Amino acid sequence: MNSVRIISTGISIPSNILSNSDLEKMVDTSDEWITARTGIKERRIVDKDKASSDLGVEACLDAIENSPISPNDIDVLIVGTISPDYIFPSTACLIQNRIGADNAYAFDLSAGCSGFLYALQVAKGMIESGQLNTALVVGAETVSRFMDYEDRGTCILFGDGAGAVILQKSERKGIMSLCLKSNGERWDLLYLPGGGSRLPANEESIKKRMHFVKMDGKEVFKVAIKCMGDASVEAINQAGIKPDDIDHFIAHQANYRIMDAVRRRLDLPTEKVYMNVDRYGNTSCASVPIALDEAVKSGRVKEGDLILFSVFGAGFTWGAAVIRW
Ligand code: UT7
Repeated sequence: MNSVRIISTGISIPSNILSNSDLEKMVDTSDEWITARTGIKERRIVDKDKASSDLGVEACLDAIENSPISPNDIDVLIVGTISPDYIFPSTACLIQNRIGADNAYAFDLSAGCSGFLYALQVAKGMIESGQLNTALVVGAETVSRFMDYEDRGTCILFGDGAGAVILQKSERKGIMSLCLKSNGERWDLLYLPGGGSRLPANEESIKKRMHFVKMDGKEVFKVAIKCMGDASVEAINQAGIKPDDIDHFIAHQANYRIMDAVRRRLDLPTEKVYMNVDRYGNTSCASVPIALDEAVKSGRVKEGDLILFSVFGAGFTWGAAVIRW
């Protein structure tokens, strides 16, 4: 079985900032509440004429530029997203065309905010089995498009962005463990009711605001802490290491209190936790690759460091991975 390693990262962050004080003017909320309950100070929102593939293209080109490969070397392109440009075709095909990855086959993967880690697992398996050598894995989101800016329970949380990584067959094992879980029993705690085959758009559905994300935040919060903690322990055990060996904890950036609860369960010092939720909010599938890119480019992550990823999202879906950089 081949070993697999992330060889480069890339990101795209929109320039428009939506701050907590901007939101104070839109819904009944306050900077104080949002900061205390989530850790978020601001989030980024794409321009009106942009969609997820636009951010995805920028993140992919950045990852390619930071690597020795050219677009033609990419064998597969997988996009994790909950905010695709269209129901079909896939956002991955739109990106593939624009970056000139002519030899790649491309598809989207739907796993809520866990989509990036699910895509990483699929790409890893393809490389390990010898089917292909190079994969481009992307988390690209414009979740702001699906936010109800009259619902203070959700609109304060999410932001836009994209992150990408290139994976290749490698001499040494980069991805040491990766475990994924799903449980569809409580799918209705976090979902987007309208626009699919169950409730296509009609006048009534639009009037009832069914084309926006609905979430029972309190319930999701509790399940996320338990599941991300369990998966992290499993990934650490599978990798044959101890929590203390982890150099960086890069979790899905949904809420600083969730990350902190998992950190405490693993008994990690706060310095090991990478947080950018204050600047970007929850960017869904893009949150882990964006955080990884920032941690790598800032020099915080050094060669040989051990990184723990942990994610959670709609479905429910969740998982964790241990990576040696
Ligand atoms: O990426 C997928 C995963 N998603 C998540 O992980 C999100 C998980 N959930 C959360 O992060 C948190 O549950 C929230 C940030 C959404 C909410 O925080 P909370 O501490 O669970 O607050 P709560 O829902 O228990 O609400 C407490 C109070 C309520 O008022 P009452 O009933 O106590 O009078 C809410 O109505 O805060 C009120 N509230 C707000 N107040 C000001 C809810 N949202 C807001 C708001 N501003 N934006």
